[in-house]
Amino acid sequence: MEKGPVNLSDALSSFEALWSPHIIAQMNDYDVRIAHVEGEHVWHAHRDTDEFFLVLEGEFNIAMRDDGGEERIVKLLEGDTYVVPKGISHRPFSPGASILMFEPTGTLSTGDSQEGPIPEGVDKTTGHKIN
Ligand code: NI
Repeated sequence: MEKGPVNLSDALSSFEALWSPHIIAQMNDYDVRIAHVEGEHVWHAHRDTDEFFLVLEGEFNIAMRDDGGEERIVKLLEGDTYVVPKGISHRPFSPGASILMFEPTGTLSTGDSQEGPIPEGVDKTTGHKIN
């Protein structure tokens, strides 16, 4: 299906909700999603897929645990990209940022399994359409 161009700045300013990924494009069976983030997400993992992040503005951190439970933090600044490998437990947190993600259509923002309750203000979603 052919769609018109989507301007990234316009798309980012079309919604304000935090931790609420919006889909700006779909290609093959993948979504390109953008989100505003601030505060903490929930520890979760995606059993079947890697997750690609690009920081559009601000600072975005990802805490991750290896198989032994050892925790480390990857700090990302504007222009940085990172891939969280599938199956790795991770918890994004940020003092404020906008990010872009690639992930298979249907991927839940909170993963297949999460640890503890989903914080208030974190949207459990497979992505919202941009209006
Ligand atoms: Ni994730």
